[in-house]
Amino acid sequence: MFEALNPLPQDPILAMMASYQQDSHPQKLDLGIGVYKDDQGHTPIMQAVQLAEKALIETEITKSYTAPAGSPKYNQLVAELVFGAEHKVLRDQRVISAQTPGGCGALRMGAEFLKGCSSDSRVWVSSPTWANHIPLLGGAGLAIAEYPYYDYSDKTIQFDAMLAALETAAAGDFVLLHGCCHNPSGADLNKEQWLAVAELIERKGLIPFIDMAYQGLGSGLDQDAYGVRMMAERMPEMLVATSCSKNFGLYRERTGTLFIIGNTAEQTQVAGSQLFSRIRSHYSMPPSHGAAIVETILADTALTKQWEEELASMRQRIQTLRQSLVKKISASSIANDFSFIEQQFGMFSFLGISPVQVAQLRTQYSIYMIDSSRMNVAGLNDQSMDYFVAALEEVIR
Ligand code: LMR
Repeated sequence: MFEALNPLPQDPILAMMASYQQDSHPQKLDLGIGVYKDDQGHTPIMQAVQLAEKALIETEITKSYTAPAGSPKYNQLVAELVFGAEHKVLRDQRVISAQTPGGCGALRMGAEFLKGCSSDSRVWVSSPTWANHIPLLGGAGLAIAEYPYYDYSDKTIQFDAMLAALETAAAGDFVLLHGCCHNPSGADLNKEQWLAVAELIERKGLIPFIDMAYQGLGSGLDQDAYGVRMMAERMPEMLVATSCSKNFGLYRERTGTLFIIGNTAEQTQVAGSQLFSRIRSHYSMPPSHGAAIVETILADTALTKQWEEELASMRQRIQTLRQSLVKKISASSIANDFSFIEQQFGMFSFLGISPVQVAQLRTQYSIYMIDSSRMNVAGLNDQSMDYFVAALEEVIR
């Protein structure tokens, strides 16, 4: 039977990571997959995470099963981080939280849940969006529609076109929004734009599904959650998927959360029963270790402070790299304007070069980025910046 199968292409981001690992060039540079790197080019384990892990080894007394929702304490602490401890949806018990295997698990289980609510509704995603959004949401059987988002020529959000497309959505359609640090463009909605999107979603009876995989890596933990918190104030129903991969550096531990907000506490409980039943039939329950680390940090004031400081220095480093890159490019012979890089948020920006130029960077200089020219700014450092700008000068020439 298997001889009839056709090979499928690899995910472009993971394929790039694999080719980078095989490259033996001494100055190879990984600006592909979205992982944070320090000045030495390493993806370190955060110290708060190391301390929490040590504490866990000493105190953990069982590896027995948890539950489809994972740890209640983790769910409560992450809900407070995402919504703010005093948010009215938490007070009104209108949120059900599920610890999930990474942000991907949250997105997929959210999509499975939504498909069960309405099999005819479409999910609207930004064009462009993260390469795995469409497989994750479409794989659950949701029909995908796209709204324009990023204007490649003037490097800004095509906001009017975005609203115009969403005006054509049908009541009951779902809208996937990036909470902060838009992946792949780095171009985020400002507060005014968030409010306009909220007004449209409310008026048309759409349901927002916000993916916030980078809380704390844009402008700050609270600032990055503005859209999620404001929408949660206003919307009767909404989903939020979050990830601890980037802000806790727990990539391989697969730690994320799905939140479902319902119109009343009773309806939220019923929605939770639907979600937990779907989780049980997919993977039964989430892995525990990463969530136990996050729970240990967020339950301890000193560890939380330490984690917040480490996260702030990662965020500041990314902002500094964005500024240095713009400065170095404008001091080079490159005539094109790259100042948009300074105005964007999180790890990613589109460099705006052609796929042929991206391929040249890869084959001639071992500099890896996604074919769309999405680059992970956090993959640069002081040593590699000059090499990168010199290579860019050559391919743009
Ligand atoms: C990325 O966009 O590079 C990250 O979110 C990692 C991934 O899984 O694709």
